[in-house]
Amino acid sequence: MYNKNTVELLEELIEPSTEQNKVECPELYDVYGIAHGKRVAATAVPTARILGLPEEKIKYAEIAYRFHDFFKRKLKEEFWFLPREELAKKQRYLIDHHASYSSILFAAAVLAADKNNPGLNMFKELNDNLVFKIINEHHRYYQEYDDLKSSSRIIDKKKLEYLALAAQILTVADSVDAMLSNRPYRSYDFSYDEVMVELKEKSGIGLDEAEQATKLKLDDKRMQKIREIRKIEFNPEVVRAFAKISFDNIIQIYPKKEFPNL
Ligand SMILES: [Fe+2]
Ligand SMILES: [Fe+2]
Repeated sequence: MYNKNTVELLEELIEPSTEQNKVECPELYDVYGIAHGKRVAATAVPTARILGLPEEKIKYAEIAYRFHDFFKRKLKEEFWFLPREELAKKQRYLIDHHASYSSILFAAAVLAADKNNPGLNMFKELNDNLVFKIINEHHRYYQEYDDLKSSSRIIDKKKLEYLALAAQILTVADSVDAMLSNRPYRSYDFSYDEVMVELKEKSGIGLDEAEQATKLKLDDKRMQKIREIRKIEFNPEVVRAFAKISFDNIIQIYPKKEFPNL
């Protein structure tokens, strides 16, 4: 049985070269290294609590949140320093399918963990608790979760509900991180208010007057960029839960951002 240190144990087992990566390419490390997973987990876990996901499930969902872009960490830095249009077709394919590759690669890494460590047992436990499946599903369109219900691979309907919810939480937290942090190929300057407007828009939640005004302040260039982040709809229940996470929490995660109206 694994305790709260499971994620640290996993990082030790499968990321032996982290320190080296950090030295060689600090920007990459920050974008899709451990830091990205940590930030995403830091908003996704409290969101999951607000939504009433059982603690036993959250324990495993957190592992998926921390390692969801595992494959991206392994890609060469050129993938992240070039705009999408300049990438070769194959490179774009790898990026577009990184959720599946992350799931497979992470599973393989856990399986191949040091023989002195419980890699195989850990794999079974993580697999049983949907960790790899959450990673696999983290870029699905919200509507597509209905397809999962007819999946023959998962018979337990309750498990399916947890999987869909845990993955939808990850999608929101991941998109928030994309908007509140810089990427090598672009620099966004979104405020927390603007992020909330975007989440509400794409989840079909109506905007109030102040939020409409915030939206109008986004110029065309930024609106176009924000659309590129994810052509996706968010689960409105997840967005409402996310909105309840306090500003204090967000500021701790993104200390360099300036937040309005605080
Ligand atoms: Fe991703
Ligand atoms: Fe991500």
